[in-house]
Amino acid sequence: MLILGLESSCDETAAALVTGDRRVLAHRLAGQEAAHRPYGGVVPEIAARAHVEALEPLIAAAFADAGCTIHDVDAVAATAGPGLIGGVMVGLVTGKALAHAAGKPFVAVNHLEGHALSPRLSDPDLDFPYLLLLVSGGHCQLLLVEGVARYRRLATTIDDAVGEAFDKSAKILGLGFPGGPAVEQAALAGDATAVPLPRPLKGSAEPHFSFAGLKAAVMRAAPHHAAADVAASFQAAVVDCLIDRTARALRHSHGATALVVAGGVAANLAVREALRELATRHGLRFVAPPLWLCTDNAAMIGWAGAERFAAGMTDGLDAPARARWPLDPDAEAVRGAGVKA
Ligand code: KG4
Ligand code: ZN
Repeated sequence: MLILGLESSCDETAAALVTGDRRVLAHRLAGQEAAHRPYGGVVPEIAARAHVEALEPLIAAAFADAGCTIHDVDAVAATAGPGLIGGVMVGLVTGKALAHAAGKPFVAVNHLEGHALSPRLSDPDLDFPYLLLLVSGGHCQLLLVEGVARYRRLATTIDDAVGEAFDKSAKILGLGFPGGPAVEQAALAGDATAVPLPRPLKGSAEPHFSFAGLKAAVMRAAPHHAAADVAASFQAAVVDCLIDRTARALRHSHGATALVVAGGVAANLAVREALRELATRHGLRFVAPPLWLCTDNAAMIGWAGAERFAAGMTDGLDAPARARWPLDPDAEAVRGAGVKA
């Protein structure tokens, strides 16, 4: 089985060719950091325009890398949300047009499902169910992944996403954009005990996450400390919160075969190491995709498309672009969750 995957929901344009037996024949990516850097964050209109310019050549390059054409694929999969709606539409319409023109089935992929299933692309032994910490620029959730299209949300952030907290902290500290890798880098030279910072919701019986208070504390501390010390202290606080909340969720994840982390923040080595220790303490396997598969890419969209296609789930050309699209439709709304501040 061969799937073309397309991704354009935020600031990465990407195309990949993925097989049903987990081979990534091609994956091409065009970042837009330079276009957004002057604004210190992703500007939706600039992103949508950049996707339009980048996508077609990327698809052609991916086919050239893999040595095949659209006629060799079994289905086309594209991100249909959640994300910045202008960008989502670019990839979605392109995917539908290619599928229609070549007479191929189309699969509308939830970007979060792409992240959620990405560890199964890199690890053939990862079986359902598993407890997933999904940490990205727009989300911070704990999900029990019971199968393809079967997600139970155990927790989410009540304010900022964790990647957003990294990005905002980097901006406050003048570390540049994108913020996550910059904070991680700066933290290497800092003292994680130098700046006392809060651990919002740590120890709370409530399952959720909160990062707004931590961001505010970084803002107050920044003028009085070295940036490296604030970065290290911030990262330590984030890790503390993630571990505390994940440990709590583990008590409600009976039957989970593994503790899994995915999403852009899963590229953070301090986060990965702390989760690995937590999994070991609980006698669970720990699975984290390679770094390139953590941040946005199209291989994970192609893989989610492959999993859905194999399960007989395809979509019509009327599949809508969705700015919001929760993985667990039964999860109750949480105040402010997923809303970018
Ligand atoms: O999954 P992703 O690429 O895009 C979204 O779907 O949001 O995640 C991007 C987020 C950004 O907030 C970025 O700063 C963060 O992931 N990130 C990191 C690291 N690499 C990327 N955060 C902390 N440490 C990193 N090494
Ligand atoms: Zn993402």
